[in-house]
Amino acid sequence: MAIKKVGVLGCGLMGSGIAQVSATAGYEVVVLEQEQKFLDKGFAGIDKSLAKFAEKGNLKEPAETVRARLKGATDRAALADCDIIIEAIIENVEEKKKMFSALDGIVRKDAIFSSNTSSISITEVAAATQRPDKFVGLHFFNPVPLMKLVEVVRTIATSEAAFEATFEFGKSLGKTPVRTSDKTGFIVNRLLVPYLLDAIRAYEEGVGSIPDIDNSMKLGCGYPMGPFTLLDFVGLDTTYYISQVMFEEFKERRFASPALLKRMVMAGWYGRKSGKGFYDYADASNPVPTKF
Ligand code: CAA
Ligand code: NAD
Repeated sequence: MAIKKVGVLGCGLMGSGIAQVSATAGYEVVVLEQEQKFLDKGFAGIDKSLAKFAEKGNLKEPAETVRARLKGATDRAALADCDIIIEAIIENVEEKKKMFSALDGIVRKDAIFSSNTSSISITEVAAATQRPDKFVGLHFFNPVPLMKLVEVVRTIATSEAAFEATFEFGKSLGKTPVRTSDKTGFIVNRLLVPYLLDAIRAYEEGVGSIPDIDNSMKLGCGYPMGPFTLLDFVGLDTTYYISQVMFEEFKERRFASPALLKRMVMAGWYGRKSGKGFYDYADASNPVPTKF
């Protein structure tokens, strides 16, 4: 089946980026959110990002042409004729199952369902639908418009046809897809999440200050961002939910959430998106390390 229309669930950090790259690649896109205010926020981010690409001459069409392919919706019925659904709502298995179970009766029967989850089992979410054979993991990286990788995740129930169609769809977005299986964290988060959590433990144990640990990994290892800058960028709430899922699966300390991360999330410090995390973003152009 040819993919023409894409449905994106959630217009947060990831959903807005996925919607943007889909529209840039020429697809019609409908983005579903809980409330109009979240669509407004996500679409403002898309406008800013498209403007940057246009400014650098990296858009094949005017930004307005790309933007005209993007529609927002708060009613699930708007997704009925989509050919692929890409879910990017909160990292919570029950919310994802509820969402897909409801969409199963709304979206055309031959459409592919996919999830951008960082850690939740694709098999488990797929089982909440009548189409586990058409359910694939499609894991993008933040910021989606710039990061070239997409992990394409096959479960034991995914059909060859759905997997290959999703793989080709990933390529059509200008991404480099890699094949992986439904093992918690897939490839990247299996390796990245313990590193990020270890950075917090190192800080808790007094190994170094937040900027010194960040600079060490940037200057000593050539990473584009230090671990605390990256944690704030990914979202501390999301990282905390991911660590809970991964610890539940592996029961290994390296996946366990450090006490400080849990307390920051309880305090509503989600990183850059809430204005405060390991850094304070009151002046976004000059983040200041948070004092604990
Ligand atoms: N859209 C368009 N342009 C953007 C942009 C966006 N969203 N974000 C940044 N840019 C532009 C900037 O304006 C800048 O342009 P100029 O060169 O003209 O100034 C250019 O891109 C480079 O940006 P910066 O100078 O701000 O910063 P940078 O050189 O460090 O690059 C980065 C930014 C690509 C994000 C880089 O820092 C990076 O690769 N960071 C690591 C990101 C990472 O590891 N992501 C994975 C997270 S884990 C994950 O996603 C999985 C999960 O499940 C949690
Ligand atoms: P986010 O908090 O920025 O955005 C989530 C959005 O989903 C919010 O705007 C929220 O209003 C919306 N939402 C929640 N429930 C909804 C519902 N029932 N219907 C419609 N919209 C709903 O989170 P995010 O960082 O974009 O993460 C989204 C997903 O992507 C998670 O599964 C996360 O693990 C995964 N992911 C995140 C990153 C990252 O770096 N942040 C990277 C890769 C994958």
